[in-house]
Amino acid sequence: MRTQPGSGPVALLYGTRPQTIKASVIRRAFNGVELLAVDTGQHYDYELNELIYRQLGVAPPDRFLEVGSGSHAEQTAAVMTRCESLLSTEAARAAVVVGDTNSTLGAALAAVKLRIPVVHVEAGLRSRDSMMAEEINRRAVDAIATVLCAPSRASAERLETESVPGRIVETGDVAYDVLLGQLEHLPSLDTILPSGVAQPFIHATLHRAELTDHPELLAAILETLAASELPVVLPMHPRTRAALERSGLSARSRGSLHVLSPVGYLQSLVLTQGAAAVVTDSGGIQREAYWLGVPCLTLRGETEWTETVACGANSLLSPTYAPGELIPMLSGILDAGRPAWDRRAYGDGSAAARVASASVSLLAE
Ligand code: UD1
Repeated sequence: MRTQPGSGPVALLYGTRPQTIKASVIRRAFNGVELLAVDTGQHYDYELNELIYRQLGVAPPDRFLEVGSGSHAEQTAAVMTRCESLLSTEAARAAVVVGDTNSTLGAALAAVKLRIPVVHVEAGLRSRDSMMAEEINRRAVDAIATVLCAPSRASAERLETESVPGRIVETGDVAYDVLLGQLEHLPSLDTILPSGVAQPFIHATLHRAELTDHPELLAAILETLAASELPVVLPMHPRTRAALERSGLSARSRGSLHVLSPVGYLQSLVLTQGAAAVVTDSGGIQREAYWLGVPCLTLRGETEWTETVACGANSLLSPTYAPGELIPMLSGILDAGRPAWDRRAYGDGSAAARVASASVSLLAE
């Protein structure tokens, strides 16, 4: 087993749908540098995985580790052991990891223990919910990364306040690069909307453990959405469907609620762009709504993307209170129309180039 960084490729490691999306622009930005794209396989359903590669026109990964689902420890351990063997065999020079998933943590731990420097993309985000799986993952990775790529000024300042040992670089958010690159390639809204649904409508997504671990709460939110005045289009994450079905609760369309199978990245952007408002617990969709000028109601008590709330683009509602408060809050947001807000909190769409340049500087040291 290696104990020093090698002379081989830079490894880019990712494994869930949002990471595969962000990896698409990071891969391109490393043009001219030997890069090994590694998909851990944390996500494996077609809509969560292969469709993203196809839609974004990226080559398949160089390695697919087939980690799949499991408990947190099982999944993280599987990522660690498979990444350790791969990084060591390939004599990787650096490991670039993205976000805060179990794949991010497992890959970063495997790399750092091989003394391979870690570049963390989306560093410095905090929800302040210390029990949240992603918060644990991102804090742990920030503590061991050599280069920390912060998506915003506030996240860079937070890392400075925390005195992390690595070097902090404010890069902007790679998700904005992806969005800007795809805006011209979006399919038309009517090819995606279910029959009978027209504008104005709400785009909703729900997938986080904080909801799926409480199926009755999840079901109550779906009932509330089913009674909404406007139609609600909800592509359902496999985890959400599995949680409802395990508890004998309905995952079907009814009333105003139109449940779809998971959709691809482009379809999701089109649904957000065409919606009167978005209801979500996804971090990615909060920012996409912010960039596309669509008001967002986030069903969480906190967000890592605080800039979206500060400028009035995003409102938070803790799901514990959601069933009663959701409709009045959503009505307030819809009545307010689409106030204009400054959309530059997460950089200018060149974040991936800055990530690549910070990584290349690291190799030169
Ligand atoms: C993971 C990330 C989360 C991210 C999300 C994006 C962690 C801790 N969480 O959550 O931060 O926002 O990805 O989607 O890493 N499943 C399938 N098919 C798949 C993948 C998952 O059916 O392709 C189902 C399985 O029942 C699985 C469950 O979803 O057990 C949870 O999957 P997992 O990868 O553990 O977390 P996500 O909810 O996808």
